[in-house]
Amino acid sequence: MKRQFFTAMSGLKVRRAGIFCCLVLLVVGFTCFYSRYLTSLPSALNLPMASFRVSTPIINTLNFRARPVVVTRTSWKAPIMWEGMFDPNHYDQMYIKNQTSVAVTVFAVGRYLDAYLKTFLTSAEKHLMLGLQVTYYVFTDLPENVTNIKLAPNRNLKVIKVEKHGRWQDISMMRMKTISDAIESEIRHHCRYVFCFDVDQEFKGRFGSEALGDSVALLHAWFYKLPNNTFTYDRNPKSKAFMQAGDYYYHAAIFGGLSENVKNLTDYCYSSIMEDKLNNVEALWHDESHLNKYFWLHKPSRLLSPEYCWDPHIINNSDIKVTRLIWAPKNYKALRMR
Ligand code: UDP
Ligand code: GAL
Ligand code: MN
Repeated sequence: MKRQFFTAMSGLKVRRAGIFCCLVLLVVGFTCFYSRYLTSLPSALNLPMASFRVSTPIINTLNFRARPVVVTRTSWKAPIMWEGMFDPNHYDQMYIKNQTSVAVTVFAVGRYLDAYLKTFLTSAEKHLMLGLQVTYYVFTDLPENVTNIKLAPNRNLKVIKVEKHGRWQDISMMRMKTISDAIESEIRHHCRYVFCFDVDQEFKGRFGSEALGDSVALLHAWFYKLPNNTFTYDRNPKSKAFMQAGDYYYHAAIFGGLSENVKNLTDYCYSSIMEDKLNNVEALWHDESHLNKYFWLHKPSRLLSPEYCWDPHIINNSDIKVTRLIWAPKNYKALRMR
């Protein structure tokens, strides 16, 4: 009788424990399933985010499986932004609601002003971070030659005079110092984010708020599919930009992030450039080599795919679903003669 009672009791306990374990497994399983798949369902199914009535961190709404042929995440889990991975409306709603402010820096020194600035700005007004508070900072040696561009409400343009360095390499490299100074004296008081662009490019499609991140680097269109050993890092051990290995080859035509992060990046690059000058060396691709070193040491939190800066000369463009920005044609001889 006693034994029967105990057997019955332990049977009951085992059953209860079994039910409890099942419940725990169910909850854990659902949580994993939810965070891994459900949060990216709306973008995968092309549904408006509003139809998904849970508040989810925006990073979890990215659909990393949308582009199976290309890499969509780095080894340190930073997203690489490709068309199809994100819901543009979701991003815009969030950043417009937060009244996010973005400084866009662009240099148009010497012949680059007449050759590129107008196209850069007018195309940016059609495609770049529409609806956000954007301030263009145009750095030029010829402020009086900057033509008036009609800007949308909430958008401003400031022209800042800079000196013209003799060599084009210095014009390019010294941007790091000018941007750092401008962040310190002006930008950080007005803008949360800073994005720095080469001027020799034209916007062709949406370049939206999904590009914003704490620290943002761009994959170079010519190298995103090539193996590491082809990357044109600086290989001279005498230069501060010297690199033996790296993650990706980044293109200096666009970089950005929170203003304090861009300040750190530009300070780092400028001091490395100056140290090289003292040692009589110049990195292979100038500021771009130092930028690659910086992003090797301080991993970017978001990468832009070459959809964000494409060279139309590249014949195999099958990965490029949306051309957001293209390299403008360049007459090197005419632009770079002194
Ligand atoms: N730049 C300029 N005037 C010059 C050389 C360079 O304004 O004489 C600026 C301009 O914004 C340009 C950037 O520096 O886009 C980088 O130079 P460039 O585009 O010629 O370098 P590349 O893209 O060919 O490496
Ligand atoms: C070229 C580009 C340069 C530099 C170089 C790096 O295609 O015009 O600006 O980025 O690649 O190898
Ligand atoms: Mn350029």
